[in-house]
Amino acid sequence: MEFQIYRFNPDIDQEPYIQSFTVEVERGMMLRDVLLEIKRRDESFAFRHSCGEGVCGSDGVNVNGKNQLACITPVADYTDDPVVIRPLPGRPVIRDLVVDMSDFYHQYHAVDPWLKRKDPVPEQENLQTPEQRARLDGLWECILCGCCSTSCPSFWWNPQKFLGPQALLSSWRFLADSRDQAEDERLNDLDGPYKVFRCHTIMNCVDACPKHLNPTRAIGHIRNLMLKKSV
Ligand code: SF4
Ligand code: SF4
Ligand code: FES
Repeated sequence: MEFQIYRFNPDIDQEPYIQSFTVEVERGMMLRDVLLEIKRRDESFAFRHSCGEGVCGSDGVNVNGKNQLACITPVADYTDDPVVIRPLPGRPVIRDLVVDMSDFYHQYHAVDPWLKRKDPVPEQENLQTPEQRARLDGLWECILCGCCSTSCPSFWWNPQKFLGPQALLSSWRFLADSRDQAEDERLNDLDGPYKVFRCHTIMNCVDACPKHLNPTRAIGHIRNLMLKKSV
């Protein structure tokens, strides 16, 4: 099967190019296995990966136009030759399939993705009812792969102003948490025309998420809460 791979080494290449590899596909193979085989043939080929089971979030790539995690994407999903693998879109390429995710991590950090309490720390734990805990399902599972934010046109154009779907999903994860006591502070930080309101509900992010999370819905909840608080 033919795989066309984006290559670019800024130290030696004037511009990016596509390199074609033919790889024997075996039953049960994932796209990461193909990338590892290419790496065996060409040591200079660069891509990120670690856990191999959809947990670390490091091997997001763009496959035939759609962002995917290579390690949990079966090659059998692609019946049409060739398969074109590019870096996640909208980010500066460091080398081959490795992109600079600094803006993405900066935006994640900007929403203070940790529990904030004003009450004294309890001796044992902050309890929740099963219902309060259930509100966090669909939010805590994010593995920070970046497939959503790098598929979002609003994030491509304003990666330093618009927080992007991942950071906003994380923001809602703490706004929705019954144990968090910083709602006003969090909402004040989200104020302004860019951070939340640059989302135009195109829903690329939902389509791209390998964990089947819904950042658009989270953004809608944040907007509703902001509107409720402003009246
Ligand atoms: S719904 Fe919003 S956050 Fe998601 S891709 Fe579209 S503009 Fe980006
Ligand atoms: S919301 Fe989904 S696509 Fe976005 S970073 Fe989290 S796991 Fe990845
Ligand atoms: S290698 Fe960890 S998510 Fe794919």
